[in-house]
Amino acid sequence: MELDLAGSNIKISDDINTWEEVNLLYNSALKQITTKIEILNEEFQEVHKYNPIEHTKARLKSPESIVKKLKRNGYESTIGNMVRYVNDIAGVRIICSFTSDIYKIAEMISNQKDIQVLTVKDYIMNPKPSGYRSYHMIVSLPVYLSDRIVNVKVEIQIRTVAMDFWASLEHKIQYKFEGKAPTHINSELHECAKMVASLDARMLSLNEEILALEGK
Ligand code: GTP
Ligand code: MG
Repeated sequence: MELDLAGSNIKISDDINTWEEVNLLYNSALKQITTKIEILNEEFQEVHKYNPIEHTKARLKSPESIVKKLKRNGYESTIGNMVRYVNDIAGVRIICSFTSDIYKIAEMISNQKDIQVLTVKDYIMNPKPSGYRSYHMIVSLPVYLSDRIVNVKVEIQIRTVAMDFWASLEHKIQYKFEGKAPTHINSELHECAKMVASLDARMLSLNEEILALEGK
C-alpha cells in the first residue's frame, strides 16, 4: 500500500526491497521502541515513584532463523515473505516485577499515537499447554527514511521476572531435547509453571498490602 501525504512527496509505504533495507528498518524500529519504553518507564517513575520495568532486551532475528521459520511455514525465502509472514524479525522483551505492571505497560504502549497494535496474545489469562505465560503484542510503527515512511512490525513480549525465569529454563530444555522432552520433565515444568503463577499472585498481593500501608 502506498499513500501520498497531502502536499508532500513523502510516501507511507510497506515496501522493503533488499536485505540491507530489512536490516536498517527493523534495527531502527527496535531503537525507536526501546527509547519509547525507556521514556515511559522514566515518566512512570516520576509519577508513581517506582519503576514498572526491571529491564528490557532487544534483538534482531538472525538471517538463518528467519529463513528457517519461513521454510517451517512453507514459504519461499524472499524479502516480501519475510516482511509479510515473520512478525518477530524485531523483538523486544520487557521484564517487570508484578503481573499488574504487564497490563500497565501494554496499555501505555498501545496508547502511543504512532504505534498500531496488530495482534495481542495474552498467555497469562490463557497459558500455553506447556505452562508458558507471557503477554505478547505485535505492533507496527513508522520508520522515517529520507524519501518515505515505512511501517515496521515489532514483537513485544512482556512478562514478570518469575515468568522469564521459567521461560528461559523451559526454552533451554526444549532446545536440548529438540522439542521432545521426556514426559516427566514436561509435567515437572508444568508444575513449576503453576508455582510461578502462584508466586506471582502472592508477591503481587504482598506488594499491594505494602502500598496500602504506605497510603499509595
Ligand atoms: P513462533 O512461531 O514461535 O514465533 O510462534 P507464534 O508465531 O505462534 O507466536 P507465539 O506468540 O505463540 O510465540 C512467539 C514467541 O513466544 C516464541 O518465539 C517464544 O519466544 C515465545 N514462546 C511461545 N511459546 C513458548 C513456550 O511454550 N515456551 C517458551 N519458553 N517460549 C515460548
Ligand atoms: Mg519467535
